[in-house]
Amino acid sequence: MTVLQDDRAALSAGPEDALLARARDRKPVLSARLVAWQKQEGRHHLPWQQGREPYRVWLSEIMLQQTQVSTVMGYFQRFLQRFPDVHALAAAPLDDVLALWSGLGYYSRARNLHRCAQVVVTEHGGVFPGRADVLSTLPGIGPSTAAAIAAFCFSERVSIMDGNVRRVLSRVLGWGQDLSVKAHERSLSAAAEVVLPVHGGDMPSYTQGLMDLGATLCTLRKPACLTCPWSDLCVAREEGRPEVYPVKSRKLKRSQRDHIWLWLTRGDAVWLEQMPDKGVWAGLWTLPLIPDDAAMTELVGPSWSAQLERLPRIKHVLTHLDWWLTPVRLHVPEQGPSVQSLVERLHAVNLSGRWVPLADLSNWGLPAPLRRLLQG
Ligand code: ADE
Repeated sequence: MTVLQDDRAALSAGPEDALLARARDRKPVLSARLVAWQKQEGRHHLPWQQGREPYRVWLSEIMLQQTQVSTVMGYFQRFLQRFPDVHALAAAPLDDVLALWSGLGYYSRARNLHRCAQVVVTEHGGVFPGRADVLSTLPGIGPSTAAAIAAFCFSERVSIMDGNVRRVLSRVLGWGQDLSVKAHERSLSAAAEVVLPVHGGDMPSYTQGLMDLGATLCTLRKPACLTCPWSDLCVAREEGRPEVYPVKSRKLKRSQRDHIWLWLTRGDAVWLEQMPDKGVWAGLWTLPLIPDDAAMTELVGPSWSAQLERLPRIKHVLTHLDWWLTPVRLHVPEQGPSVQSLVERLHAVNLSGRWVPLADLSNWGLPAPLRRLLQG
């Protein structure tokens, strides 16, 4: 029987039944092969794989949510050194956490991380809950992250569902329905539950195997089907066009944003303001963001305006947004009434603004493009 010849009854019952029948049919061999492959060929030396301590696994999974493994490595080690356990993290000021997160992006993760540590300490006695459904009630832990922690640390039989896993499973099971439709996404999740290993003890290798397969062989373009442990079981491969999976019609809509970045210096200090609690850089420190030239002239006044030095604009790419930032430099004297009145005007827009010595910047939570700009 080929992988395309499915249970007739299931085929006549509709696509979801066919998917689940396929999943049930292949279940034992899919999980056994993946577990064996992960043990032989998968990744075993990532820093968060040393032991199954929930604090380390949780921290790594949050960092890995939108960031590549190679970037996370250094941050993970620095975080553990500074905050060796959940108590240390919960007791730290948020600003220290944001400063250490600086450069990783998506700062709501750092704020949630801090809140989550506090909830674990105050409501769970400093011990992470041992079940995915309880973990997913904690700040910043969605269903997939909860499943990863529960599978890695507690061998719970629950399935993760991130971008890589969506791709791998939709290919192997030939699930070509549009995943922008909630019901089709739910069907794939149901199939993911079906193919889980029977023994909880296999869950860590199986879960890591799904991640490893997606990251190394079953890639978005040019998947390496020849060396894949699921090659002969894979519907997408048999069809000859694995790249068409997963099908997702509604793509993320990207937008554009433009700001002038007032790079104001005085002696060896730079003027920084804290961003509000919501938004892309929530809680981070930045140069004042000015909507346009007219607003800039109004803010600094005509005499300073003539001294502004415009630098080439920087493109900051986020998942949903291209953010164009044009740094405009202005160096002011240490003292004087005109400096004082400029500071008052800046304070009228954002009260948090202050002079920060350049030598002290490593202790401040700055967005990565600003750190790069200031460090030349
Ligand atoms: N991405 C998310 N979790 C991961 C993990 N545990 N290992 C490698 N990449 C990941």
